[in-house]
Amino acid sequence: MTDALVLGLDISTTATKAILVDSTGRVVASAASEYDFQTPQPLWSEQDPDLWWQGTRHSVRAVLEQEGVRPEQVAAIGLSGQMHGLVLLDARQEVLRPCILWNDQRTGSQCDTIRARLGFERLLEITGNDALTGFTAPKILWVQEEEPEIWERTRHILLPKDYVRFKLSGEFAADAADGSGMLLLDLKGRTWSRDMLAALDIPETYMPAACEGTAVSARLSPEAAGELGLPVGLPIAGGGGDQAAQAVGVGAVQEGMAAVTLGTSGVVFATSAKPRVEKEGRLHAFCHSIPDRWHFMGVMLSAAGSLRWFRDTCAPGRDFGELTAAAAAAPAGCDGLVFLPYLTGERTPHPDPLARGAFVGLTVRHDLNHMTRAVLEGVACGLKDGFDLMDGAGLPELQTVRLSGGGSQSPLWRQILADTLGRELVTVAEGEGAAMGAAVLGGVAGGVWPDVDAATASLVAETGSVRPDPDTVETMKEVHARYRDLYPALSPYNRSVAPD
Ligand code: XUL
Repeated sequence: MTDALVLGLDISTTATKAILVDSTGRVVASAASEYDFQTPQPLWSEQDPDLWWQGTRHSVRAVLEQEGVRPEQVAAIGLSGQMHGLVLLDARQEVLRPCILWNDQRTGSQCDTIRARLGFERLLEITGNDALTGFTAPKILWVQEEEPEIWERTRHILLPKDYVRFKLSGEFAADAADGSGMLLLDLKGRTWSRDMLAALDIPETYMPAACEGTAVSARLSPEAAGELGLPVGLPIAGGGGDQAAQAVGVGAVQEGMAAVTLGTSGVVFATSAKPRVEKEGRLHAFCHSIPDRWHFMGVMLSAAGSLRWFRDTCAPGRDFGELTAAAAAAPAGCDGLVFLPYLTGERTPHPDPLARGAFVGLTVRHDLNHMTRAVLEGVACGLKDGFDLMDGAGLPELQTVRLSGGGSQSPLWRQILADTLGRELVTVAEGEGAAMGAAVLGGVAGGVWPDVDAATASLVAETGSVRPDPDTVETMKEVHARYRDLYPALSPYNRSVAPD
């Protein structure tokens, strides 16, 4: 299979990306089709699933048209995508309503219902997780309660990338990594929990087949092959949710390895050789997209998303590189200015849809550079909160922390992060993120690589590292302590201005 290519697809919130990767890991073609999501009411976030399929068609056709690519070279397909979204299909396999997305915050009361029905201890024992507004199960309860006519007609429940799998193959399947984020999976058994389904009145027949990320979950149907211009019958790997796939893409695949992603959301991720649970459920405990491996994850909802909001609002049109480089003129700690990045509520460590962002400690002496630096520091402090939870969750000591995501392009942000976490961070030559992880999982399913360990050892190259500066580490400890005190202090205010 020397000239074999693997197609990696990432169905994200903002675009569907397709890449073709050869057996040496070189990306020979890449294309993306962008789209938007809707916020029709406060706390709501929705998207039409047809956008993902149209995005898949456009971006796959675009990579196949790139010079030197022959469709018959494509040996396998791997899928990744935004996690936790709820897609509902009727008996005719038609979409019933817009997908309720991962960043939707409407399900606070349904989370309480889930805790009450299962009991917190049992919920944690089965799924490894607390009920959080972002997860899929509370969204199902919301539809049962608020849109009973839609629930009445529902026959299939899918995650976003699994809707694309269905369009590619006609099959209903979900991998254990993405499946974990539904809050319906048995963490140890890596399949749907009958107890969870029974407690939430979800018929088992509505669920897709649970599979491993490296397994052949389905094959490309003649109809989809015709639409995309690919060979009929290509194997489609189980794949993984975007965070597990991102971790594969940067090679964070063994215990002792962690990854930090500075994307729209900010993620701390650590691989585990066994199914561990954080005792209060404050970290996500999910299956990895690699058989017999699991991972912890902390997710802050607005990381690089906070910087984008700040740039668009306070420095419209400014280049991110220029804006963040100029912020180095402000001192560490920003002369007492602290930014809280809870612009879309928060998940880790505060599972709180009503949390709000804030600049605290402004004076006339603060300028744009202080404010920009405060945003970078605030996000770093949020990620440190996630890391601190990992330290207490029983994992062996982390040996390597790999950094990726758009925000990691900023040298100042990389340094602030290393200083705040007090750890060395290693950068890798990825750039294609979750789509690369999807391609690796696809290539393992299709026999291009023997397993994920072998594939990532040969494909992922470290490009540099950033070490903490001991003086700034001390300052950032103080900044983090001030930051941590602000969430509880501002909570009463945030509750008083919450939408009805
Ligand atoms: C992970 C999560 C986000 C989305 C974004 O738990 O909610 O990273 O998957 O795509």
